[in-house]
Amino acid sequence: MKLCLIGYGNVGYGFVQVLWRHGPWLRERFGFAPQIVAVHDVRRGTVLAPEGLDLEALSRAWLENRDLGELGRGGKGLTAFTVIEESGADVVVELTPTDLRTGEPAAGHIRFALAAKKHVVTTNKGPVALYGKELLALAEENGVCFRFEGTVMAGTPLFSLAEFGLAAPVRRVRGILNGTTNFILTQMEAGKTYEEALREAQRLGYAETDPTADVEGLDALAKIVILANMVLGGDLRPNDVPCQGITGLSAPEVHRAPKEGYRWKLVAEAVRTEEGVWAKVGPERLPLSDPLAQVGGVLNALTLELDPLGAITVVGPGAGPEVTGHAVLADLLAIHRKQR
Ligand SMILES: NC(=O)c1ccc[n+]([C@@H]2O[C@H](COP(=O)([O-])OP(=O)(O)OC[C@H]3O[C@@H](n4cnc5c(N)ncnc54)[C@H](OP(=O)(O)O)[C@@H]3O)[C@@H](O)[C@H]2O)c1
Repeated sequence: MKLCLIGYGNVGYGFVQVLWRHGPWLRERFGFAPQIVAVHDVRRGTVLAPEGLDLEALSRAWLENRDLGELGRGGKGLTAFTVIEESGADVVVELTPTDLRTGEPAAGHIRFALAAKKHVVTTNKGPVALYGKELLALAEENGVCFRFEGTVMAGTPLFSLAEFGLAAPVRRVRGILNGTTNFILTQMEAGKTYEEALREAQRLGYAETDPTADVEGLDALAKIVILANMVLGGDLRPNDVPCQGITGLSAPEVHRAPKEGYRWKLVAEAVRTEEGVWAKVGPERLPLSDPLAQVGGVLNALTLELDPLGAITVVGPGAGPEVTGHAVLADLLAIHRKQR
């Protein structure tokens, strides 16, 4: 399997580390030995190497912030489209930054790659939340796979669980899908004000300098739309989903709730009904008996409900370069298994 990486930032680097570490095991266990034959990044440059790149050299170039062109045939001014075309890759791994309004530049890269009959793996929520079903249809039309495990709960498997592990339709999902807000709420519960908790999240690198997407619930919104459409079979757009963040919560109320047998959480939920699929995002005061109430700090969790299992809750890390890189590798392995 030949890979072309578009976007070589934190997740790209994390993916290379996981592939490097687990490469021997993947080869031995599954006969799976992917090669990276091209990397294109607007910041770090471009390299095309049909013989496959050395993962150590690729890692070093990232750490030392060197131009990727030094590793093989490079070139300034090459576009992602040219690189996808010229790379000879079977799979395009799309890891550019998320834009939840337009899905670009990833949506364009993904459409182009699928139309060229290349499998696509992405961790970018934008194109999946906005155009997920269209992209799946395009993949099907071209006889290739489109996979996106890392878009929700990073490396913690959800889509592959739903695809391979369940034999009945999921009727509801409810989850804590944003680690930053869960960390802030956990800190507020311990007695901090919202501002103090946010500053702590920023100091630890959990929250961006502009935390709007997290604290206003927009990140969780994109993820619940992806789950609603791709797992529950809905047809929602982000604008269809009511969304409230955590900025309106009172710190004393969050602090007091556990003494009363509750915990405040930012809950994202999607439900399939006779009339169709609906979803919402907002803070909820959950009883401590709810498994989601037991999930603290930056952890994420999702409860899936289906007949006859009742409820299954998956808890795990929802972000981090290597954790998300693991999702990319799991998707690639799924494509490899499908081809055999
Ligand atoms: N980090 C996580 O824990 C995590 C978890 C789940 C999902 N994700 C998603 O995974 C994706 C990658 O995340 P990340 O943390 O690796 O982001 P990142 O560190 O910002 O890396 C993205 C890289 O892509 C480059 N880039 C921007 N536009 C490009 C283009 N048109 N063509 C080629 N390269 C381009 C960026 O360069 P510039 O910096 O110069 O723009 C940057 O080097 C994002 O969509 C993110 O939302 C991340």
